[in-house]
Amino acid sequence: MKNPVVILDFGGQYSRLIARRIRELNVWSEILPWNTPLEQLESHNPLAIVLSGGPASVYAEGAPGLPAGLLEKGWPLFGICYGMQLLVKEAGGVVQRSEKREYGVLPIEIGDSPLFDGIQRPLRALMSHSDYITQAPPGFEVIASTPSAPVAAVADGQRKIYGVQFHPEVADTGQGKKLLENFLLGICAIEPNWTMGDFISETVEAIRDQVGKESIICGLSGGVDSSVAAALVHKAVGDQLTCFFVDHGLLRLNEAEEVMDAFADRGMNLIKIDARQRFMDRLAGVDEPEAKRKIIGEQFIREFEAAAAKLGDARFLVQGTTYPDVVESGDGQSATIKSHHNVGGLPEDMEFELCEPVRELFKDEVREVGSRLGLPDSIVWRQPFPGPGLAIRVLGEVTPQRLDILRLADAIVREEIARAGLDREVWQYFAALPNVRSVGVMGDQRTYQELVAVRAVTSVDGMTADWARLPWPVLERIAHRIVNEVDNVNRIVYDITGKPPGTIEWE
Ligand code: XMP
Repeated sequence: MKNPVVILDFGGQYSRLIARRIRELNVWSEILPWNTPLEQLESHNPLAIVLSGGPASVYAEGAPGLPAGLLEKGWPLFGICYGMQLLVKEAGGVVQRSEKREYGVLPIEIGDSPLFDGIQRPLRALMSHSDYITQAPPGFEVIASTPSAPVAAVADGQRKIYGVQFHPEVADTGQGKKLLENFLLGICAIEPNWTMGDFISETVEAIRDQVGKESIICGLSGGVDSSVAAALVHKAVGDQLTCFFVDHGLLRLNEAEEVMDAFADRGMNLIKIDARQRFMDRLAGVDEPEAKRKIIGEQFIREFEAAAAKLGDARFLVQGTTYPDVVESGDGQSATIKSHHNVGGLPEDMEFELCEPVRELFKDEVREVGSRLGLPDSIVWRQPFPGPGLAIRVLGEVTPQRLDILRLADAIVREEIARAGLDREVWQYFAALPNVRSVGVMGDQRTYQELVAVRAVTSVDGMTADWARLPWPVLERIAHRIVNEVDNVNRIVYDITGKPPGTIEWE
């Protein structure tokens, strides 16, 4: 895509959020690694460059630095946190080393600068740093400060180079988006004319370029990510695409039938593979979460390979990978939390080249693309469901009996939340089977049976989440129905953990 705002990623947890905030301003943005050579940056024709935060100290050995010659290029630059410190150091200012960390949403004293046009005082912003700046570089003005960060923002208005020590991209910095708007639309005079429609047409072109006349296959799970990815590829290359729906036996109640029905009249080639037994055989005796994820990820690929071999010679594989998957599987710079099966779990000897048309998008952006492509609400608003399916909600070893218990309990959770009209308010809601048995009493008899955990979370993009404050009567109905309708369950708990410190799934 042409003329982006480029975000140079120095390994901060918030780099994706910067991209997202900029896109919300209707300006296309792309993230490139910090060590992208200058010539490659030039080939993108950036309208401006944002330098992200990062975990390093500018003085640490091997710390990421600016691409050589960046300051001389004349591009408008905006440094955030570590990105600002790099700018300042490179331009001749002083960064003071410190082991003490300043963290929290703090009031920032701001001066007069076009960067702060329309910003209400005090500006409260997230600070998260150790090193701090004591002296602005020659030619730069200090435009903000706090008691512990005397140089909290700098500006060289002439060269359109700005830096802020705080994080305007996070929701905690309430006026942060306005600040980015001031820089990009005000100071840099960028036209806010990028839309999701542009994303679709440019992505369709890119898919055609990548795939050419070759065949491409897609593992369609019925989830919004893979469905939207498949719909984009179908729009681009039509019948060159064949979709496989793998029934791995780890699906929710009636899910296989529902997905096949939803795609029945979209004119796509869609084949169902019954792989239930093969997955069950491979998972027998395995109880470690990462091991389960890796096995399932690999078996998926083996299923595609076998199915594709029957078709002929497909060269490409569509994956519905999204931004949070990429970040959380560790892109080499931020920490690995879990191997999401469509990223970290891919076997090294995989025979396909990947086509990942929604890799750059957050979930809500994927939904918008889905709606624009005319996918039905039942798909676009389907709650996220992990590729490894119920295997990561049956904690410990996955057996057909425990899957049956979970499936019935989960169906009740989903039914009751939908019945209460909360299904769009709550990001994800499901049951998990934690591998705990407890003593109870039913009909004067002692019972010693499974515990079911109910989980419902609110979230914007799955990267952070809060537990949903479900009304008591809804929880009561769920608990009542599960113990009455599902054999071998005598106790229900509700999970009130956010993310962090928990994750949304239990494994
Ligand atoms: P966690 O549990 O990491 O989940 O907080 C964040 C979101 O990602 C989903 N999830 C997955 N999606 N493959 C996927 O496609 C996976 O391996 C996977 N693991 C978790 C999870 O359901 C939640 O929406």
